[in-house]
Amino acid sequence: MDSASVTVEASAHAMPVADRRTADRPGPTVAAPPPGPIENRIAIRTGRDIVRELRIRRHGRIPRGNHWPSLSNTWIGLTDPLRFLLSHYERYGPVFTVRSLHEPVVWAISPTANQQILVSEFDAFSWRRGRFRDLAPLLGDGMLNIDGDYHREMRKLLLPAFHREQVEASTTVMLEEAQGAADELEPGRIDVYGWVRDVALRIALRGLLGMRGDSDRAHRMAVAFGRALDLYGLPLPVQMLRGPGSPYAHAQGGRKALDELIFGELRERREAGDPGAGALGMLLAATDADGEELPEQAVRDQAVTLLFAGHDTTTATLTFLLYELGRSLDARDAVEAELDAVLGSEEPTVAHLGGSGLPVLERTISETIRRYPPAWVGPRRTVRPVTLDGVDVPAGIAVHYSSWATHHLPEYWEDPLAFRPDRFLPEAVAARPKGAYIPFGGGSRMCLGMRFGQYELRALAATLLRRFRFAPAASDTLRITTTPTLGPAGGLRFDVRRR
Ligand code: HEM
Repeated sequence: MDSASVTVEASAHAMPVADRRTADRPGPTVAAPPPGPIENRIAIRTGRDIVRELRIRRHGRIPRGNHWPSLSNTWIGLTDPLRFLLSHYERYGPVFTVRSLHEPVVWAISPTANQQILVSEFDAFSWRRGRFRDLAPLLGDGMLNIDGDYHREMRKLLLPAFHREQVEASTTVMLEEAQGAADELEPGRIDVYGWVRDVALRIALRGLLGMRGDSDRAHRMAVAFGRALDLYGLPLPVQMLRGPGSPYAHAQGGRKALDELIFGELRERREAGDPGAGALGMLLAATDADGEELPEQAVRDQAVTLLFAGHDTTTATLTFLLYELGRSLDARDAVEAELDAVLGSEEPTVAHLGGSGLPVLERTISETIRRYPPAWVGPRRTVRPVTLDGVDVPAGIAVHYSSWATHHLPEYWEDPLAFRPDRFLPEAVAARPKGAYIPFGGGSRMCLGMRFGQYELRALAATLLRRFRFAPAASDTLRITTTPTLGPAGGLRFDVRRR
C-alpha cells in the first residue's frame, strides 16, 4: 500500500479485543514496513564509518575545514560547541568540516543552508543514518530515528494529537500540574531544573500519552525514564563505556524497567478493548498493512520518543528563561507588569495561552529559545550529493545544521549574546531572512510537538512568574551541557521568593 492510502482518524476508537481487523473498524493505518535494525556495536560502527570515509574520499571532495583527528578539537567541540562552531564559521565560511572523534562531520551554518537542509533539499538527507542513531538504545525506531514512508505514515498518524483543539484540551492538564506544583513550592534555594523536569514529565505522561496522573505506574515510569536518560547527560566518552557497572548498563536497566511499565499499560488498554486517550491511544487504534494491530515494540518506541522529545526541551527552556529573567531585570519587570495587568489576582487560563494573550511573555520565550535552543543540532547523513550555500557536499557524509550557532551569527543578530526580547517585535521578525530563526526546525520534519511545547512553556511561565521571583544562586555558575539537549549541566539552583 502506498502512502496515499493511509487514512487517519482524528480520535482513537474504542474496540473489542477480538475485533482486530481494519475491515471491521475504521482507523489509521501504517502500511510501510518498519526499518531494519540499527548497528550499535561501537567497534563495528567505527569500522564501517572509516570504510565509508575512504570510499567518499575516493569519489569526491569533503568540504574544507579541520580534516585531521585532533583530541583538542574533539574536546572543545564537545565542551564549548558554540564558540567552536562560530570560530570555524569565521575562518571557513558557512559550510565546513570538523572531525569529531573518528568521523568527519560537515557543519552547515547559515539561513540559506538551513532552508536547504530543512526544506528545498530535504530529500538529500537521512535522519536514521545520522547521529540520532546514538539514541536508538533508548528510543528504538521512534520519530527521531526513521525515514521515508514509515516516518511519513507515523507522523500522519500522530499529527491529530498535536492539533490545536487537542493541545488546548491538554492545556487543562498543564495548568493543573503547574498550579499544583506552584502550590507546593516553598521559597528558599532549590534546583529549579530538577523541579521543572518532574512537572514536565508528569505533564507529558498525562497530557501526551493520556496516562492517569495519580497512577503508580506513571510515577514509576517517570523514575525509570529518568534513569535511562541520565546516560545522555554524561560526557560522550563515558557514554561509550560498556560492561557491568557502566553508566550504559545502568541506563539499560532503566530502559528495561520503563519497557515493562509501558508494555503493561499497552496490554491493559488492549485487554480493556479501549485504546484510551492521548497519542498512545492513537497508536493503539492504528493497524498495519495487514489490518493487524501495530506491534507493541513500534508503539513503545513512539511513546518513549514523545516522552523524550516532549519533556527535556521544555524543562531546559523554562530553566533558561528563569535564569535570564533573574539577570535581566528590565525583561523581568516587563513580564511581571504584563502578568499583573492581564491576570491580576487570577490564575492563567487556556484563553491566555494561545500566543497573543501575553505578548511580552511570548517575546521573552522566543528570545530564550534563540539564545538556548534545546534541540541545538540537527544531525543527518547525505544520501546523495548536494550543494549547500554554494559548497559541494558528497553522498554518505554526516551533515549537521545548528540552530544555536545560526542564532548567534552577528550578521543577523546584533550583539548576539545579549538577552533582548524586543528582537521579536513584529517589524524585527518580518525583516529577518527565512532560516535565521529555527528553534523548531522546519519543513516536513518540523517539531511535531511545537504547539504542545509552546502552550506548556506559557502555562508554566505564567503560573510561576505571577507568584514567584527566581534569582540564580550567586554561588552557582551556569555550565551548559549539550547532550542530549541543551541544558544546565548538573541542574541550576535559584533563590525563590514570593512576589
Ligand atoms: C521548547 C520546546 C521544543 C523545541 C525547541 C523543539 C525542537 C525541535 C526541533 C528543532 C526538532 C527538529 C530537529 C531536526 O530538524 O533535526 C524537533 C523535532 C521533534 N520534536 Fe520537538 N521541540 C520542542 C518540544 C517538543 C515537544 C513538547 C514534543 C512533544 C511530543 C516534541 C516532539 C518532537 C518530535 C516527535 C520531533 C520529530 C518530528 C519528525 O521527525 O517528524 N518536541 N523538535
